[in-house]
Amino acid sequence: MISKRLFQIANMIPKDMIVADIGTDHAFLPVYLMENGLAKKVYACDNKEGPLSGAIAHIEEANLTGSVIPILSDGLTDVPKDTEVITISGMGSELILEILNAHLSGFENIQRIIVQGNTSVQKLRQYISEHNYRIVDECVVEEYKYYQIISFDLTPAERPLEAEEVWLGPVNIRKRSETFEKYLHERYNYLYKLNLEHPLKDQREFLVLKKVLTGYGERKMLTIYGSAMCPDCVACKRNFDFYGIEYHFIDINLKLHDLADFLSLRDKLPVFDHCKEIGDIGLPALVKEDGEVFLNWEGYLREKGYEVLPEEGEIKAACSLDRKGC
Ligand SMILES: C[S@@+](CC[C@H](N)C(=O)[O-])C[C@H]1O[C@@H](n2cnc3c(N)ncnc32)[C@H](O)[C@@H]1O
Repeated sequence: MISKRLFQIANMIPKDMIVADIGTDHAFLPVYLMENGLAKKVYACDNKEGPLSGAIAHIEEANLTGSVIPILSDGLTDVPKDTEVITISGMGSELILEILNAHLSGFENIQRIIVQGNTSVQKLRQYISEHNYRIVDECVVEEYKYYQIISFDLTPAERPLEAEEVWLGPVNIRKRSETFEKYLHERYNYLYKLNLEHPLKDQREFLVLKKVLTGYGERKMLTIYGSAMCPDCVACKRNFDFYGIEYHFIDINLKLHDLADFLSLRDKLPVFDHCKEIGDIGLPALVKEDGEVFLNWEGYLREKGYEVLPEEGEIKAACSLDRKGC
C-alpha cells in the first residue's frame, strides 16, 4: 500500500516508460510501478547507502530484482541515460532544483519530469517557466497536509507563467479541483490571519491567492462588495446592469473570507469614516481596477453621464447598524 501522494505521482507517469526515481528511499514508488505494470523498467536511485539498502530489501521482497534496479547516485549523476521519465519527490524544492540544474543535460530521451517539492513549490514553477519548459499536468493532494505535484516536459511552453500560475499552477487554476479549492481557502485564511497580526513582509502569495479566490483582476472591471440583503446594493446592481457596466459582485454574506476582506478595507480606509460615524455598514463599496475604493455609486453613474434609475418598490431591509435603512 503506497501513500496517496505517491499513488498520484504514479498515476501521472506515462505508461510503459523507463523511469528513474531520484531520492527513492525505500523504493515504494518503483516497486508499485512494476507490480502494477505501469513502467517498463525503474531505476531506484538514492545518494545514501542506508536508504538504498532499504530499497534493495524491498525490491527483493517484491521479487522485482532485474526490473527495479537500485543505483547509488547523487542526483542524476549515475542515472542511466536511457531514462525517459524522472520522478523527484518528498524533498525540498531547493534540493530538487539543485538536482535538475546539475545534470539534466545529456538525457536525450526524457519525455516527462514529475516533481513534488515539500516546500516553496513556486520555485519549481519559476524554474520551469524560466527554462521555457511546459507544464503538462498538476494536482494537489491532501494527506495530513497539502502536496502539489507538477508534471512537465522539455518542449517549449507557449508563454511564460503569470505570477498566480507560478504560485498556484496553471493546470490547478484551470481545473479547480475540490482539493485545490480547499487548499486555496485554507492557505488564504492562514495568511490573512498572519497578515493581521504582523503585516507580511512578502505579500506576493497573499495577493495572488486573493486574486485567484475572488477572480478580481481577471478582467478589468469594478469589484463591488455588497449583500443581497442590502437594498442600496441591489439598486446599484440594477443600475449597473441596466447601463451595461461590467462588475464583479462579492456578496459578503456568503463567504467569511470575503466578509473579512471587506472589513479590512472598512477598518483601514478613510472613505468609510463618515459611514462609521453615522452607523452605516458602508455597502455597497466599489473598488476600481487600480484599487481605489469609493461608496458613491450614484455619483459614479452621473460622472459617466447616466441618470440614476428611480427606486423600485418599497425598501424593506436595512443597511445601517441601527436598522433604520440605507
Ligand atoms: C524523504 S525521502 C523521499 C522518498 C520518496 N521519494 C517519497 O517521495 O516519499 C528523500 C530521499 O532523498 C534522498 N536524497 C537526498 N538528496 C539526494 C540526492 N542529492 N540524490 C539522491 N537522493 C537524495 C534521501 O537520502 C532520502 O532517501
